[in-house]
Amino acid sequence: MMIQEKVWLISVTLMGLLAAAFIFVRARSHERQVDYAPLQKRAYRLRTVFFWILVFTLGPVMLYTLVDLPYDPVAAERSGGTVQVVDAVGYQWRWDLSRTEFKVGDPVEFRVTSADVNHGFGIYDADLRLVAQTQAMPGYTNRLRHTFTAEGTYRVLCMEYCGLAHHNMISEITVVKP
Ligand code: CUA
Repeated sequence: MMIQEKVWLISVTLMGLLAAAFIFVRARSHERQVDYAPLQKRAYRLRTVFFWILVFTLGPVMLYTLVDLPYDPVAAERSGGTVQVVDAVGYQWRWDLSRTEFKVGDPVEFRVTSADVNHGFGIYDADLRLVAQTQAMPGYTNRLRHTFTAEGTYRVLCMEYCGLAHHNMISEITVVKP
């Protein structure tokens, strides 16, 4: 089973459980009244405990995952590597890349823009897995940094519907061993 199908199944199950709980509560809401004061007290106490559990678990997780932000876009230059700049222009309906061959491990900066309408600049590996993407917008240049970690033939596809031959916006990138 693919990961998407698993996630879909889990989501549907959880949505079903939530709906069932809602229906259950709704169905029982007309039953006899009971004294909720003690129950409320207990719930409030639990809420406080829950709050502190959240603070002490999610707090460190958040700090740990955010510590690298903001991602340093010029780290490659400072570590001595040279960034290869590539101009990428989207047209209806093709890509114009100033360079299409790269080496594994070399940081590349794609300067992506469009000559006409909005396009989506997506780089896919041989298995059609997306490895990097940005928007190609008229009048604006987006910088997309990517370091290829595996050799092979990559494809640049358009990720935004841009007219009749949108599906024909395909370019190839070759990545070779250093
Ligand atoms: Cu360009 Cu779709």
